Formats: sequence, C-alpha cells, structure tokens
Amino acid sequence: MTRKIIIDTDPGQDDAVAILLALASPEDVDVLGITAVAGNVPLPLTERNARIVCELAGRPETKVFAGCDAPMKAKLVTAEHVHGKTGLDGPQLADPTMPLQDQHAVDFIIETLRTEPEGTVTLCPLGPLTNIATAMERAPDIIPCIQEIVLMGGAYFEVGNITPSAEFNIYVDPEAADIVFKSGVPIVVMPLDVTHKALTTAPHVQGFRDMGTEPGRMVAEWTDFFERFDKEKYGSAGAPLHDPCVIAYLIKPALFSGRHVNVEIELDGTFTRGMTVADWWRVSGREANAMFMGDVDADGFFGLLTERIARL
Ligand code: RIB
Ligand code: CA
Repeated sequence: MTRKIIIDTDPGQDDAVAILLALASPEDVDVLGITAVAGNVPLPLTERNARIVCELAGRPETKVFAGCDAPMKAKLVTAEHVHGKTGLDGPQLADPTMPLQDQHAVDFIIETLRTEPEGTVTLCPLGPLTNIATAMERAPDIIPCIQEIVLMGGAYFEVGNITPSAEFNIYVDPEAADIVFKSGVPIVVMPLDVTHKALTTAPHVQGFRDMGTEPGRMVAEWTDFFERFDKEKYGSAGAPLHDPCVIAYLIKPALFSGRHVNVEIELDGTFTRGMTVADWWRVSGREANAMFMGDVDADGFFGLLTERIARL
C-alpha cells in the first residue's frame, strides 16, 4: 500500500540517501513534496541540496519548498564539521536547474494536510522539527489530519552526538520537538540507538560504487566523506546512515524493533537541553507518546537500500 509522505529535510549526505531511497520506491511511497529546513547547513543550502538530489534521482518534477531558516526560539546551530561547507561535501556537484516552489514549506504542509483525505499523509522529518511544529502552531486543525510522524532524532542508550546528552535534530530546535512530541500524533522515532547500528561499512560502500551508476557513485562518495567524522569520533567501522532508516521503516517496518514509551524533551537542563528523555523502563507513569526504536536488522536494511538505489 503506497503511503503519501512529505519529507522534511536538512540535506546532509544521509538525508540525500533517504531522499534517493524514497524516490526509488514509488510502489511504497508517494512523495507529495520535499520541505527544506535549516539544520546541518543554512536553509539556502538545504533547499539547494534537496533539488540536487531530486535531479540525481531523475525526478526533477518533485516539488521542493524552502521552510524555516531558524529554530522557533533557539539560535541556529549547524553541522558543517560533519557534512562539510555545502552540506553535501564529497563529490563535486553542479547547481540544480529544477525550480524551487514559491510557496513556503509551512504553508505547503498545512495546505496538503487540509486537502488530502484525513489520516492519509505521513510526515517524515529528517532534520530539526521547526517546519512541522510551526505548521502545528499556525494551524492546529491539521494535527488530527496527520496519519503518522516517522522521524529521525533523539537518543537514549546512545546518548548525544552534538552535546553529551542531546542528538542534533532535537538539540537544534527543542521547542519544536516539544510541540511535536506533545501533539498527540502517532510518532515513530529512529534515534541514534538504531541509526548507530546502520553503519556504512566498506563492503556496503563498495556495493554502491559497483553499481556503475551516477546515484551509486554519489552515495559512495557521500558516505566516504560522511564517515570520516564518525569513524574518528567513535572508532566505528563506518558512518551511521541515520535518515534512510525513516524511509526504510515505511517500506519494511519489520526491519526495526522498539518500545512504545513516553518521550519528553528537556528544555531547561543546563547540560541536558535537547535531550529526549525516553522512559524505556516505564518508571515515570507518564503516558506513552512514541514508538522509540531500539534495534535494526542492519543486513536487511542495507540489502533494501542497495536494491532500491540500484534502480535509479
Ligand atoms: O543526528 C543525526 C541527524 O542530524 C541526521 O538527520 C543528520 O542529517 C543531521 O540532520
Ligand atoms: Ca538530517
């Protein structure tokens, strides 16, 4: 059953792979639009990068929108140290030629949820939650219209990657994350606990390169660039492919396992602002509000990813 989705993203090499996976899987996901948000790099770059990836996928007709250029309250924090100055460092990339939509991403999200039949659109945030929360605040009537939110963000056992306690997407805009996690919309969370098990080891990267296609070559070059940071920091065997976990879940949910628990966003902690306080052991008595994933079949994940990217 094809799911209608909006991908909200801050490309980022891993976002790029997630977008390729979605556009390569039309029998599973119908991408109604891609909304860019400031995150890994500033908005002018994330919207440019989203268009580059759509053209690489051979889908220049995809509608790409620019959204919020700064968090709701916090000052923008970016991650050039991980993704490079352009956000898609690794290969040399030409500027996109496909157009950016004139409509603001938040207005597109609101209009789409008001137009499509209720409960038929899934939101897939891959970056800070600024666009999603802004849409919810501006138009609360859309909240019951959202089928599900499947997002990459947060961490529990894996703790933080931008601070000792917070994961980047949540840390950049904790106020936005708090609005989303309190919205009552069914949420599936792909935290670092899962994404750090989806590592682009050398054989996987070689598999992308061996495809002999431009998308395969790009994915190999992006992961080569992207993994240098994580390998040095964690001594891991490769880079965690965070954002593609969201799309892989839509295609093959059985690849993932987790628990339906309460997740609160820390807003005030001196050292813990932006932390996803997941009640994994259900000790708080607080109502469960998210399916918090804890494990992934990494071989199955990369098998799916390789099979689909090879289609492009
Ligand atoms: O912490 C990882 C997340 O932050 C990923 O979505 C990556 O693209 C960055 O946005
Ligand atoms: Ca991202």
